[in-house]
Amino acid sequence: MTAPTIRSALPADEHAWRRLWRGYCDFYGASVSDTVSNRTWTRILDPDSAIMCIVAEVDGQVYGFANCVVHENTWETQAVCYLEDLFVEPSARGHGMGRALIEWLRNSMRAEGWARLYWMTHGNNQARRLYDEFSLADGFVRYVVKQA
Ligand SMILES: CC(C)(COP(=O)(O)OP(=O)(O)OC[C@H]1O[C@@H](n2cnc3c(N)ncnc32)[C@H](O)[C@@H]1OP(=O)(O)O)[C@@H](O)C(=O)NCCC(=O)NCCS
Repeated sequence: MTAPTIRSALPADEHAWRRLWRGYCDFYGASVSDTVSNRTWTRILDPDSAIMCIVAEVDGQVYGFANCVVHENTWETQAVCYLEDLFVEPSARGHGMGRALIEWLRNSMRAEGWARLYWMTHGNNQARRLYDEFSLADGFVRYVVKQA
């Protein structure tokens, strides 16, 4: 497989994005409503939204994505980028797409002046082998309080 092209998601990527999004939700055993999925896709295309998405494409076909939120924070004057969802379809794994997506974001951090790029993952996720190439986990632990 040739090296992927990484680029921002376009309206024409909707079908591929929804296929990958379903795969990602299935990976986490999550059931996400159409209302939420539709809103997320709409936000991705909205230049005024903090949500953005990049895709990994080879020979005109999209195999992976990264959904991110660029947001303010209290520790720096610059914005920071939260990599919220990273997914490469199973048949295309191991060809460097995950690494290329994160590298693209690291380059964007420098170009856009974000103070940090960060993400979370489950302690047992095997993708940590990849993540450790970029930075070692800092030991913080996530707490979640749900509305109901
Ligand atoms: C994580 C994920 C996006 C990586 O995508 P990918 O395109 O296969 O990653 P790469 O090909 O760039 O892999 C880079 C390296 O990490 C390793 N790696 C990545 N994901 C791995 C996994 N799930 N299991 C074992 N090794 C993995 C590979 O061995 C590879 O090392 P190598 O290049 O020295 O062989 C993909 O495995 C995936 O979608 N997983 C399911 C969803 C998920 O876990 N998302 C992240 C949630 S935080």
